[in-house]
Amino acid sequence: MSNENRPNIGEDYIRFHRAMTRGLAVSIQNINEFLKIGAVEVLYRDGFLKYVQCFSSVSHGHHLVEDEKIFPYFRDKLPEVPYERLISEHNILKGGLQEINTGLDNLRAGNDDLNSLKLLKSGFDKIDQIWYPHIEIENTQLYGRVGSLKIDPEEMIRLQKELVEFFQEHTGPEYLMGPFVLYNLSPEDRAIAAQGLPDMVMKQLIPIEWKDKWAPMQPFLLE
Ligand SMILES: [Fe+2]
Ligand SMILES: [Fe+2]
Repeated sequence: MSNENRPNIGEDYIRFHRAMTRGLAVSIQNINEFLKIGAVEVLYRDGFLKYVQCFSSVSHGHHLVEDEKIFPYFRDKLPEVPYERLISEHNILKGGLQEINTGLDNLRAGNDDLNSLKLLKSGFDKIDQIWYPHIEIENTQLYGRVGSLKIDPEEMIRLQKELVEFFQEHTGPEYLMGPFVLYNLSPEDRAIAAQGLPDMVMKQLIPIEWKDKWAPMQPFLLE
């Protein structure tokens, strides 16, 4: 029998990694293009800054929810996961995010674009160097094994809710975060992710109430 409809936070986080991976790749690709002309293209400036800001906030919240909630929860249940290695890699990733945040501040302040872009590039490169092996370990050794633990569906739903609330407390603003995550996912992944959201998010907030705020990011997002 298929487990497709059973709540499984392992599947949620493997999917979440895909959104972050696209955010990483799209950011680097655009930074490289802007570096060639020595500045952020005026037309895309607002959207690009928002997109990178979202990547940074989502990444910060994600590493934090893993360190503070997910790893402690699974430590006894999946003891063979190399938690210490993952936590120390999060510290390297956080170092990259700090450079990205400084680069963003400099761009917002209207400081020299070229130097700010170089700082963004340096931060993203630090992340890019360990991101793929990092999520490979998490996906295969942790998230991919959650289904085999036979956690009670009610407990899984409680855990899902706790993790989402914790993440939301440490990220923001939600009118950028929600669209950033959902529209860095393929339509198939997005449809699955949307099932876990209140109806009004997809029907009212994202397409209407929040639209003006996140629309500048659209050139960087999927349809
Ligand atoms: Fe991680
Ligand atoms: Fe992760």
